[in-house]
Amino acid sequence: MAKAKIGLIGGGQIGGNLALLSVQKGLGDVVLYDIPAAEGMVKGKALDINQLSAVDGYDCRVTGTTDWKDVAGSDVVIITAGVPRKPGMSREDLLDINLKIMRDVAGNLKQHAPNAFVINIANPLDAMVFALQKITGFKPSQVVGMAGVLDTSRFKCFVAEALNVSIRDVEALVLGGHGDDMVPLLRYTTVGGVPITELLPKEKLDAIVKRTREGGAELVGLYKTGSAYFGPAASAIAMAESYIFDRKRILPAAAHLDGQYGINGYFMGVPCQIGKGGVEKIFEIKLDEAEKAELQKSFTSVKKTVDSVKL
Ligand SMILES: NC(=O)c1ccc[n+]([C@@H]2O[C@H](COP(=O)([O-])OP(=O)(O)OC[C@H]3O[C@@H](n4cnc5c(N)ncnc54)[C@H](O)[C@@H]3O)[C@@H](O)[C@H]2O)c1
Repeated sequence: MAKAKIGLIGGGQIGGNLALLSVQKGLGDVVLYDIPAAEGMVKGKALDINQLSAVDGYDCRVTGTTDWKDVAGSDVVIITAGVPRKPGMSREDLLDINLKIMRDVAGNLKQHAPNAFVINIANPLDAMVFALQKITGFKPSQVVGMAGVLDTSRFKCFVAEALNVSIRDVEALVLGGHGDDMVPLLRYTTVGGVPITELLPKEKLDAIVKRTREGGAELVGLYKTGSAYFGPAASAIAMAESYIFDRKRILPAAAHLDGQYGINGYFMGVPCQIGKGGVEKIFEIKLDEAEKAELQKSFTSVKKTVDSVKL
């Protein structure tokens, strides 16, 4: 099978880690694209990773570039082009500036990589992936937003810490928009097959849900100059890997909804099957009345931001 080509748009904190993980996991050759002002940074990161490859014997190569032509023919594109939050900012505060960047990126993707499966990471997540799909005109199944894998991994991490168990044995699901009213589903959370509600008291579970919802802000507060990057990179790589190797994994991601969960024409975090067809299937799981109300609240926030997007 031919080696996949992975276009990374934005070579900053997350972009650099995406490049490293792509090489370490043997996903394919990487093109790390950024604006001309960041040429030295992307060329430097590419060279650094290619030299590191000698140590452990990785066979994929990274090219740093500021020329869109090098992105042409990418099988997968991951977008991190955009500004991250600083302490005190909400993701929605990034809308104007990141939308301007998305217009540029989406226009170029339409021209140079019309067949790529595109994973957006830039915030505000649900609005940016909506803009990406509208501007490119790509099939909705070809475009997806990364947030649910990260939000779920934060939730799993806090559960594993609270119980002092292996994180591998925690199964969980976080749905909804990538904002403070995302919906961690306790009823669908198990540890080694045992429902979490049997293992932790309500107050502890409430605290874990709250910390998950504020998980991004916690890291912004610690880093001070930007937001999380290791977790976001690993999460998007899990999605890219499922596409490249047709793994058909079920991952929570911001997918285009066409009536599922009563939502039409918006992207929001739901369980998706990702395989060679992109977002191949959306799973509509049963929710109780309280969960439905929480998901609706989250959607109301997503809709408010999306409806303010001027394309
Ligand atoms: N979805 C999530 O769960 C999640 C998590 C963390 C961060 N984020 C978001 O990801 C984005 C990137 O975060 P980061 O920490 O990597 O930021 P960063 O500032 O380190 O990197 C962003 C890069 O984008 C580049 N860029 C700007 N305009 C561009 C353009 N027109 N074309 C190509 N590249 C361009 C910048 O030069 C910079 O190198 C932010 O919007 C952040 O809010 C999302």
